[in-house]
Order: sequence, then C-alpha cells, then structure tokens
Amino acid sequence: MSCLMIFGKKYMDEDLGLNELVKETMFIAARPNLGDYIPFLGVFDLQGLSRRMKELSKPFDEFLERVINEHLHKVNEQNQAKDIVDKLMGIMNSNEAVFEFNHHHVKAILLAIYYSNSTDTSSTTVEWILSEVLRHPDVMKKHQNDIERVMVIKEGFRLHLVAPLLIPHESVEDLINVWAIGRDPNVWPEPENFKLERFLECNIDLRGHDFQLLPFGSGRRSCPVMQLGLTIF
Ligand code: HEM
Repeated sequence: MSCLMIFGKKYMDEDLGLNELVKETMFIAARPNLGDYIPFLGVFDLQGLSRRMKELSKPFDEFLERVINEHLHKVNEQNQAKDIVDKLMGIMNSNEAVFEFNHHHVKAILLAIYYSNSTDTSSTTVEWILSEVLRHPDVMKKHQNDIERVMVIKEGFRLHLVAPLLIPHESVEDLINVWAIGRDPNVWPEPENFKLERFLECNIDLRGHDFQLLPFGSGRRSCPVMQLGLTIF
C-alpha cells in the first residue's frame, strides 16, 4: 500500500526484502542509544546502532535508484496518473525550485515519506480506535452521528499516539511528551476513561493549534501528511 501510494507500484511483491529492511530500521531506531543520553559516548557507538543503520542505507539507496530509473524510462501514457516520484522529478527537472533540489534530495524525500508511512501510523491508529469502540459499545450506541464520529477520533488520538514524544528534531531542546499531556488530569478530567462528552464541552482541535491534543505535532515540522491521515478516518 505504501509503495503503491508513493512509488506508483507494489514493490513488496518483488521479493526485494523491503519488509525486512523496514522492520530492521524501525527496530534500530526504537532502541535507546547510549550516545543520545551521554553524548561523549556517541562516537564509540558501543551498541553498534550507528554502524547497523549505515549498513542499511546501501540497500535502500539501491532500491531508490531503481525506482528513479524506472520512472526515468517509463513511457508516459496520456491520462496516466502521476505519482509522488513523478512530481518530485518534475520539480527537479524544471529548475524552478528556489533552493538546490537534485537527485539526492528526491531520494531523501522519498525515504522520509516511505518510512513515515511504513511505520503503520494510520493502521495502528485505526486499530486503536476500533478497539476502543469495541470495548465501549454503549458509548458508540449513544453517539452515532457524524459530529460524534469526530469526537471518537479525537478521543482515540488523545489516548493512543503514534509518536508519544513526537520526533526529536535537532532544533528541539526538550522532548515533548504528548502522551503525558493527553493523560494530564489538570487538562482532561478522568483521563484514563474513554469519554466522548469531553469534546462536547470544548472546541479542542487536533491539527496542532491546541497544545492539549497534538497527535500530528505542531508547527513547521508537524506531520506534512496530516490531511491524508485524517481523510483515512
Ligand atoms: C494517523 C496517521 C499519522 C499520524 C498520527 C502522524 C503523526 C506524525 C507525527 C506526530 C509526526 C512528528 C511531528 C513532530 O515532531 O512535531 C509526524 C511526522 C511526519 N509524518 Fe506523519 N503521521 C501520520 C501519517 C503519516 C503518513 C501516512 C505519512 C506519509 C505518507 C507521514 C509522513 C510524515 C513525515 C514525512 C513526517 C516528518 C516531518 C518532518 O520531519 O518535518 N505521516 N507524523
């Protein structure tokens, strides 16, 4: 599904070992790295996490080169929908970008989108929300119209976040624990309970303007695909 959305084709069927590559990368990325907590140990890479991550970059690079080559050589039929790779290569070839935008930038963006998508963000959230709905059939019976469906999604996101600490960007000085904010009794009365009514009494939105609920982060580095993420629901 991710491949189809981003590269226009299901590469998972081609036995390229992509699934394993993604799993291994997520496994390494999620491991606590001593060097992050005691910076002077970082250069020694005691757990070998940096080395393993660097090793993984080679097969990924080969895969992305292949995708780009296939797009360069594909015969463009009329009415054929353009995928993200076509769009990015269009920007690159137009020379209209006001910043440097070359082959490497195309690969970097494709990799970022692919990873964010392959971590199952949307499907994990759907699973959490459905399991809350199944656990609270009475709540769902009571609230069945469209507005209340929005409340289910907000309440689902409040309790189950894809990135509980958001992404630690280089410019960030403190980690933002959105998981703890979502369960802070000063903000949310009876925080452990799945209660849709709390959203009847307030206009809290989830697009990054209300800091009590930040499932997609906030500001310039918030999730660029928020709209797609929300459309899925
Ligand atoms: C329910 C679905 C999703 C949720 C809840 C979600 C949430 C997030 C969050 C919390 C961040 C970090 C924001 C920050 O650090 O402030 C993020 C970043 C990002 N997301 Fe999503 N995401 C979803 C779906 C997706 C999908 C489907 C894609 C790709 C197709 C995607 C692409 C990205 C990218 C590229 C970033 C990094 C942005 C940057 O570093 O500037 N997300 N997302």
